[in-house]
Amino acid sequence: MAIKLITGGTVVNATHCSKSEVLIEGEKIIALIDPNSGLLDVADAWDYELIDATGKYVIPGGVDAHVHLQLPMTPEATSSDTFESGTQAAAWGGTTTIIDFAGQIKGTAVPEALESRLEEAEGQCAIDYSLHLSIGDVNKQSLIDISGLVESGVTSYKLFMAYPDAWYSDDGQILQVMQLAAESGAMTMMHAENGIAIDVLRGQAAERGDTGSFWHGKTRPPELEGEATHRAIQLAIVAGAPLYIVHLSSTNALREVARARDEGRNVFAETCPQYLYLSLEEHLDQPDIDGVRHICSPPLRSATDGNQDNLWMGLRTDDLSVVATDHCPFCDNEKLLGIDDFRNTPNGLGVIEHRMDLLYQGVRNNEISLQRWVEICSTTPARLFGLQGRKGIIAPGADADIVIYNPDTEHVLGVSSHHMAVDHSVWEGMTVTGQAESVISRGSFVIKNREFVGNAGHGQFLKRAIPEPLR
Ligand code: URP
Ligand code: ZN
Ligand code: ZN
Repeated sequence: MAIKLITGGTVVNATHCSKSEVLIEGEKIIALIDPNSGLLDVADAWDYELIDATGKYVIPGGVDAHVHLQLPMTPEATSSDTFESGTQAAAWGGTTTIIDFAGQIKGTAVPEALESRLEEAEGQCAIDYSLHLSIGDVNKQSLIDISGLVESGVTSYKLFMAYPDAWYSDDGQILQVMQLAAESGAMTMMHAENGIAIDVLRGQAAERGDTGSFWHGKTRPPELEGEATHRAIQLAIVAGAPLYIVHLSSTNALREVARARDEGRNVFAETCPQYLYLSLEEHLDQPDIDGVRHICSPPLRSATDGNQDNLWMGLRTDDLSVVATDHCPFCDNEKLLGIDDFRNTPNGLGVIEHRMDLLYQGVRNNEISLQRWVEICSTTPARLFGLQGRKGIIAPGADADIVIYNPDTEHVLGVSSHHMAVDHSVWEGMTVTGQAESVISRGSFVIKNREFVGNAGHGQFLKRAIPEPLR
């Protein structure tokens, strides 16, 4: 049915909550109506589908700005969620937009990287999707190619100060990309860990025989995340470009971002649910498979140092602007590649389905407000990545990407109930309250009363505009 009317719910936007009816025509929201206005009396004459949201929140679909679906991380390990399974899992959790990455690995060209990633995703996605560019080879030609990307709707680049054997860029290369971004208005995203120093620590640990998963954490100390974050910020200031720090995990890095923002710099950062909830001591420092399942980079941080509490604080103070997942799951057979040496474990965790629920626990625990939940999970990621007005908001003219969220449903996270294509869960046994009951993407149900009714191919590639980063 072309017209849908969502009644009885509380509409939550980043700015405020209201008791409004939401009118959808085709793929768009066309009106928010005050239920006492009498305007709805005329609706009796229409042929529309009524969606009763009494007692529920009506929120903009989640925007997950950092995911890795079917990513060949090494020749032996590819992240286990495909574009099909990963976007379905995202929808089950109330996310209606994902931004993945086209990866330009060393020795390859940017246009081909984009083309082949677009081909992989085409026709597979249950929800709308877009791509950043991961740059692994900054050279004369790639700098020219990157400048042309804005026209293809790719308006953000990820650079790496980590992974010297693969994705690393040195400071001069980073500066050149940032200078381009300063001209075009594109967003530079940074994996901020000092990979050169980390590699020394990793080699020394291996020589000592310290090869368990705990040492993955100890050889990527928070100081080296703080240092790289500081350096990235200085380079962005010199270039005059906006900067977005991805997967920020530690107090050290948060301090650098907070200082830059206090100085009025165009600097933003995302954190991820794993850094808010999981820790070095409780999760990474476990024997056998349990430890390696928790290997990701940056690593889970020490709870005794208060990292997790400080990240929640950063979300309240807006020093952290976004929560994304960095979803990059690997099944046990691939995680086990590093059972004798943490360095051989593919990095990454499965999170895409649980982000909205995990952050809603922050609302329940008085860490963040209801509106802030929507802001960090939907509205701000849309704005920072060129989807402003289209995604992340319930307003006339926006895409009808809407979640009917039941704040009272209690459920237990784990491998028997999740929809991610991974054979374990780092969230196993965690009870949460609140769940996406129905999920609408561009006016069509993807999840209806906890049943998947979507299809691969509904999701469209989103060409993104130049972001609106100013804080
Ligand atoms: O461990 C992680 N984060 N895996 C995904 C790759 C990255 O660096 O984002
Ligand atoms: Zn990264
Ligand atoms: Zn990532």
